[in-house]
Amino acid sequence: MTHPITRRTVLAGAAVLAAPLAFAQAQAPIVIKFSHVVAPNTPKGSGAEFFAKRAAELTKGRVKVEVYPNSQLYKDKEELEALQLGAVQMLAPSLAKFGPLGVKEFEAFDLPFIFPDKAALRKITDGAVGARLMAKLDPKGFKGLAYWDNGFKIMTANKPIMKPEDMKGMKVRIQSSKVLEAQMRALGAIPQVMAFSEVYQALQTGVVDGTENTPSNVYSQKTHEVQPFGALTDHGYIGYAVIVNKKFWEGLPADIRSALDQAMKDATERNNEVSQRDNDEAIAAMKASGKIKLHTLTPEEKQLWIAKLKPVHKEMASRVGPALIQEIYQALGTK
Ligand code: LMR
Repeated sequence: MTHPITRRTVLAGAAVLAAPLAFAQAQAPIVIKFSHVVAPNTPKGSGAEFFAKRAAELTKGRVKVEVYPNSQLYKDKEELEALQLGAVQMLAPSLAKFGPLGVKEFEAFDLPFIFPDKAALRKITDGAVGARLMAKLDPKGFKGLAYWDNGFKIMTANKPIMKPEDMKGMKVRIQSSKVLEAQMRALGAIPQVMAFSEVYQALQTGVVDGTENTPSNVYSQKTHEVQPFGALTDHGYIGYAVIVNKKFWEGLPADIRSALDQAMKDATERNNEVSQRDNDEAIAAMKASGKIKLHTLTPEEKQLWIAKLKPVHKEMASRVGPALIQEIYQALGTK
């Protein structure tokens, strides 16, 4: 005797067929594409890898963070557009790159000699100012998760640099920050905004004569192979805002989001612990290479750089906000 095919048996059969598919879908990890422009062996590069590892551990494989270093996917400006469009989910652009997006207050971090050291910087990033600045990203479709350090910058050039005057007339690559532009002009140099991925070739072919960056960026980009001179000026800071696409982030299940928050906290702690070591090692490696002569400033020379560059704070107050600069001075007990 044959059984009549009822609606119930059809539905039951369909459920059996669909079960493995539903299971596979439930198991498919949430993918976070984390794009950045630097090498893997830098504070940001290793920070991204560490975050990926912690995210996998803490979500038990439910999140897969794919890290794309070296501008492999996008260059400086494009990566911000890609995040807004949701083509990638996570970035960590330098704080000097948010001006074109309309968040020019981050350029306060570019003011020369504003942070005497990392402890002072940390007071700002971990305090009220840091939180307020991050919140400015929300209307742009981003959510700021953390501040990551790189470190303090050095100058490199195709001729010896010791005093501020040595920068006169030099064409110098900078990031897209008006404060950095003003800083180079204060030195009598000619600033040229350029994507990070284009710097090596521009230096090699003489499109620009010099640049500023952290030792870890200079070394990992092989800048020291095309720039025979440098000065350990420590004149400014490079750090990052780790940001996600806001809609993506808010759409994550709450348990996943809190695991990722923890992974980010762990990665931030680690990044800020090892970044100085990365930069110190880069200086040692460049010195050992014999390819670049890195000048250590005398205390008198250092004073000359400070005297030349401090006026940039006043000059750029209308750009980043005079109250913000005062608040930073006050929090640090400086001026
Ligand atoms: C640069 O463009 O010089 C740096 O901001 C690159 C980076 O992300 O450290």
